[in-house]
Amino acid sequence: MMLLLLEKLTMGPMTAGTASEVASLLLLLLLLFLLLVTTWSRTHRSLIPGPYFLAGLGPILSYIRFMWSGIGTACNYYNNKYGSIVRVWINGEETLILSRSSAVYHVLRSAHYTSRFGSKMGLECVGMEGKGIIFNNDVPLWKKVRAYFAKALTGPGLQRTVGICVSSTAKRLDRLQDVTDSSGHVDVLNLLRAIVVDISNRMFLRVPLNEKDLLMKIQNYFETWQTVLIKPDIFFKMGWLYNKHKRAGKELQDAMDALLDIKRKIINETEKLDEDFDFATELIFAQNHGELSADNVRQCVLEMVIAAPDTLSISLFFMLMLLKQNPDVEMQIVEEMNTILSERDVQNLDYQGLKVLESFINESLRFHPVVDFTMRKALEDDNIDGTAIRKGTNIILNIGLMHKTEFFPKPKEFSLMNFDRTVPSRFFQPFGCGPRSCVGKHIAMVMMKAILVTLLSRYTVCPRQGCTLNSIKQTNNLSQQPVEDEHSLAMRFIPRAAQPQLKPL
Ligand code: HEM
Ligand SMILES: *[C@@H]1O[C@H](CO)[C@@H](O)[C@H](O)[C@H]1NC(C)=O
Ligand SMILES: *[C@@H]1O[C@H](CO)[C@@H](O)[C@H](O)[C@H]1NC(C)=O
Ligand SMILES: *[C@@H]1O[C@H](CO)[C@@H](O)[C@H](O)[C@H]1NC(C)=O
Repeated sequence: MMLLLLEKLTMGPMTAGTASEVASLLLLLLLLFLLLVTTWSRTHRSLIPGPYFLAGLGPILSYIRFMWSGIGTACNYYNNKYGSIVRVWINGEETLILSRSSAVYHVLRSAHYTSRFGSKMGLECVGMEGKGIIFNNDVPLWKKVRAYFAKALTGPGLQRTVGICVSSTAKRLDRLQDVTDSSGHVDVLNLLRAIVVDISNRMFLRVPLNEKDLLMKIQNYFETWQTVLIKPDIFFKMGWLYNKHKRAGKELQDAMDALLDIKRKIINETEKLDEDFDFATELIFAQNHGELSADNVRQCVLEMVIAAPDTLSISLFFMLMLLKQNPDVEMQIVEEMNTILSERDVQNLDYQGLKVLESFINESLRFHPVVDFTMRKALEDDNIDGTAIRKGTNIILNIGLMHKTEFFPKPKEFSLMNFDRTVPSRFFQPFGCGPRSCVGKHIAMVMMKAILVTLLSRYTVCPRQGCTLNSIKQTNNLSQQPVEDEHSLAMRFIPRAAQPQLKPL
């Protein structure tokens, strides 16, 4: 090619004058330019597969894809296109997306990835920058805060969970007619959110609150969180775009401050507090002793209150949809409940014995997850599966895709057979593991079981005609969620007694 070019250039002056010669010269110069660009970008390309750097165009295109299609959708696109270890760019920063179980497991268990990444200004907007737990990247402070979460979500806290879940769910089911529309349908996602936020309040905060108002603020907060999380700094200077989000962030923070003020009053007026303090009380005492700042206490309580409505309620919604699409599974679960739970007090359910239910929950979390990826940052140089990792690299663990491409006998189908054999832990990580895993993973399982048992022992649900998991619109930004337009998500609740075929003999 270079030879051809030299030939043309030396020939050029002799035949100059015709327009076609000028045009071909320009064409050749363009080719030369492209050649230079590709060789230059090759030197800027690491050995990890991924889109080309293309003189800076690659990073811009991949960043646009993340913002345009949502983080989750973009991750699946890149892993499907380039393989289980991909290098892309988010906001100009090198970012690896991992969906291979050996690589994911390495990161999960390592102490070198206990930080996350995200736009600093975005995290400030939702109060998560250097505060709270979920996206707190101040590692020493995160560690301190995580201990309070771990204490509240395990041990004695876990013991009280079943009773609270059963009674909160039963209370809502008793008043089902209040939320049933004229066609006999219930907005089940909002019902589940209301149940879950009531449970969270009774376990961690214990302050009377306006659930409906709080849930609306939680939803706006989540929307803002996923909108600002990876936005470029310039976004935060565009008032007309940003102000709405700034307001949504502030609104939930203010609501939390108000609830904490009430809590402080309650604590002040109670002569003798019972021995096992709830989460909010522990944090207020930590603040009084100068251990935590008031802003941090507010953010921690906020995150504890949003954690379940943002994840667990939507997981349960997907589970109810899946149950309807797999009636044989529903039958098995109900039979198991009837055999194992028949004689016992409903508050002391032997959840260990509910193996079918647990397989169903596991398979639902695998087949249709809400949280299907998690964001980390490399705090040290490292080596993953032979790939050199530089300190500061962003890491996304695409757990959702990992669950559909490795180990399972029927990876692309919903089938309890996928959990017939014990699944080695490196192949199934719906909550993550290691130092930065979901701190609520044990309580979440107990909560889901208690809510499902209470609900399914009384009702079977029935989505609208033709409404399946495939037919409802969904987004996959920060997590996988159904789009809540019209009434497509509503379901009818049919009392079990009217379903004799589901009762075991
Ligand atoms: C079905 C329900 C849930 C699922 C699927 C889920 C999943 C996850 C996942 C995948 C992570 C990221 C872990 C990582 O980076 O390795 C996470 C983090 C977290 N989850 Fe959950 N979760 C659920 C319910 C809950 C509940 C009920 C709570 C608390 C009441 C909770 C509290 C948290 C917190 C605080 C973090 C951040 C931990 C940290 O950064 O140190 N989660 N969750
Ligand atoms: C991502 O989330 C934002 C805020 O909820 C939403 O406006 C946007 O449509 C979502 N994008 C996609 C592709 O789902
Ligand atoms: C708690 O009570 C003391 C007096 O007993 C009062 O000085 C203090 O301001 C009260 N604190 C709150 C938060 O109500
Ligand atoms: C469900 O998954 C958990 C890991 O999240 C595992 O410990 C448990 O054994 C699984 N249960 C069944 C019945 O497969």
